[in-house]
Amino acid sequence: KIMRPSVYVTRPDVPAVGIDLLKEKCSVHLWTGNIAPPRDELLKGIIGKNALFCNIADKIDKDVFDAAGSNLKVVATMSVGYEHIDLEEAKKRGIKVGYTPDVLTYAVAELTVGILLATSRRLFEAHREIFTGGWTSWSPSWMCGPSIRGKTVGIVGFGRIGQETARLLKGFGVKQFLYSGRKDHPEASDIGALRLPIEEMLPQCDFVICALALTPETKHFFNEKLFNLMKPSTIFVNTSRGGVVDQDALIKALETGVIRGAGLDVMTPEPIPSNHRLLSLPNCVVIPHIGSAGIESRNDMAELTARNILTALENKPMPAELKL
Ligand code: DGY
Repeated sequence: KIMRPSVYVTRPDVPAVGIDLLKEKCSVHLWTGNIAPPRDELLKGIIGKNALFCNIADKIDKDVFDAAGSNLKVVATMSVGYEHIDLEEAKKRGIKVGYTPDVLTYAVAELTVGILLATSRRLFEAHREIFTGGWTSWSPSWMCGPSIRGKTVGIVGFGRIGQETARLLKGFGVKQFLYSGRKDHPEASDIGALRLPIEEMLPQCDFVICALALTPETKHFFNEKLFNLMKPSTIFVNTSRGGVVDQDALIKALETGVIRGAGLDVMTPEPIPSNHRLLSLPNCVVIPHIGSAGIESRNDMAELTARNILTALENKPMPAELKL
């Protein structure tokens, strides 16, 4: 009897398309709890496995690699972000790492537009008014917020998701797209986006969208100094990683009117405690990291993660391998 390679999957609700693909060739070991496996369970579950199917809520570090042992060939995360994986350790051990770029770009961009509108047009605040007695009559100036048409939108981190967000927002009649980042993006000319240094860009923006990957260089990138450069009418949106924002500086900016509002799909910590100060601010929209949660994109992410694993186990080129 030929031994089938073994895969540890850290969540039972991975879309079936991914699990079914793995099952064709592998023996699949699913963590069955409805939250991320606790540390000791992960360290137990991974022992002797050939592959790990994980996500951003799983910290994959030296201890996990040690527990797995030398059979582990590939770690595939069902995410485009990979800051939860110790890439140095993976590289040292010759373990391949897969991720899921592209297939979630549209879903995250779509959600970015959604949270931008929810913040600028105050959807959640308005919704609450129905239950708290605030809705007494139609009123001329009640629950007003800025429209997108004719405005300047600045995008920080003009990669796949930042660019797609600009493409979707074009339909709203944005006057000018600006972006800032380390390099020029040729795609910017099709979109009509101009690159500016961040200090020059921020004072011009009505909306600032953060689409930065979290790296040691981008940690707390949005700090007090940058918020102070924004207009008091600015709406700030972050759908990338909470860690790129100095959250205390953001809270201060929201409390003191340095900026008008913020829409956050990501924050620190996640999940955020329900009594957190951030959640008490009426001008801050917070949603629980659901950017990629389009049904189609989650299916595609599960499938791509499974294909990353299957190809790596067969020593074939992976469809989305991280260069280590
Ligand atoms: C990612 O893919 O990195 C998102 O944060 C979760 O889908």
